Amino acid sequence: MKRTGSVAKVRQQVKEWKKQGLTVGLVPTMGYLHEGHKSLIDRAVKENDRVVVSIFVNPIQFAPNEDLESYPRDIEKDTELCTNAGASLIFNPTPEEMYPNGFSTNVVMNNLTKELCGKTRPTHFGGVCTVVSKLFNIVAPDRAYFGEKDAQQLAIIKRMVADLNFDIEIKGCPIVREADGLAKSSRNTYLSAEERQAALVLSKSIALGKKMVEDGERNAQTVIDAMKKCISAEPLAKIDYVSAVDALSITPIETYSGYVLTAIAVYIGKTRLIDNFIVDID
Ligand code: PAJ
Repeated sequence: MKRTGSVAKVRQQVKEWKKQGLTVGLVPTMGYLHEGHKSLIDRAVKENDRVVVSIFVNPIQFAPNEDLESYPRDIEKDTELCTNAGASLIFNPTPEEMYPNGFSTNVVMNNLTKELCGKTRPTHFGGVCTVVSKLFNIVAPDRAYFGEKDAQQLAIIKRMVADLNFDIEIKGCPIVREADGLAKSSRNTYLSAEERQAALVLSKSIALGKKMVEDGERNAQTVIDAMKKCISAEPLAKIDYVSAVDALSITPIETYSGYVLTAIAVYIGKTRLIDNFIVDID
C-alpha cells in the first residue's frame, strides 16, 4: 500500500496500472475511516484490480461556521484500515495541492441542491462537485463508490457524471449502522455519552417511517409528521428537516410512488447528523 499527496504521482501510478490492463476503483473520503467507509473499500476491492482511497478534508465544502477545523483526522489509523482492506493507494493531498494559488474554477449544480441539506448548507454541494470532479480527473477510475448514507450527495454525483460525460461508473453502497441502529459517521465522535444515546432517535424515526410506508401508508405528510413527532420526543434533538423527495431529482413528493428518498437532518446538541431510507414502489 502506497500513500502520496502528489497529483502527479497518482497519475503516474494509475497510468502504469492501466498500461497493464488493470481496472481502477476510487473511494473518495474525508478520512477518520470507519466501517461505513470500509464497506465501500471492500466493494471496490472486489470489483476492481486496484483501489485508490482519497482522504481529503475538503475546505470548500464547509461553510465558515461549520466544523472544518475540528473535523477528526487520523491518517495513521486510516492507512492501517486501507491496508487491511486491500486498497493499493491512498491519495491524501494538502489543500494547497488541490487548490493552489490562483484556483478559480468551480463546478456548479443548478438543480438537486435546493432541497434537504442544500437548504441549510447552500455552498456545500458546489464544494463537493468541484472536489469530486478534480478527484475523477486526477485518478480517472473505472468505478467510484459512494454511500447511500449521503443520499443527496450520491444523486448529485450521478447527475454530474451524466451531465459532464465522465466515463466513470458510480456505485451506491448501503448504509452501515452501529449495532443499536445509529448510522456510522465520523461526526459521531463529537457526541457525549448522553448525546450518543439521544442520537438513536434518528434511526428510530427512520425505522418508523419505513415501516409506515411498507405497511401501505402513501401520504408523505402523514409519514413526515409521525417521524417529526418521534424526533421531537427527544429533548436533546432539534430538527433541521424531515423530507420526502424523488430520489433522482430531489424534488418534494406528496405521495409515495416510484423511487422515493425520505431524509432527515437533526441536531443532537451542536452536532448535525443525517439519516434516510429509500423505497421503490411500483
Ligand atoms: P465522508 O463523509 O468521509 O464519506 C465518504 C463516503 O463514505 C461517502 O460516499 C459516504 O456516503 C460514505 N459513508 C459514510 N458513512 C457511511 C455509512 N455509515 N454507511 C455507508 N457509507 C457511508 O462524503 C464525503 O466524505 C465527502 O463529501 C466527499 C465525497 C469525500 C467529497 O469531499
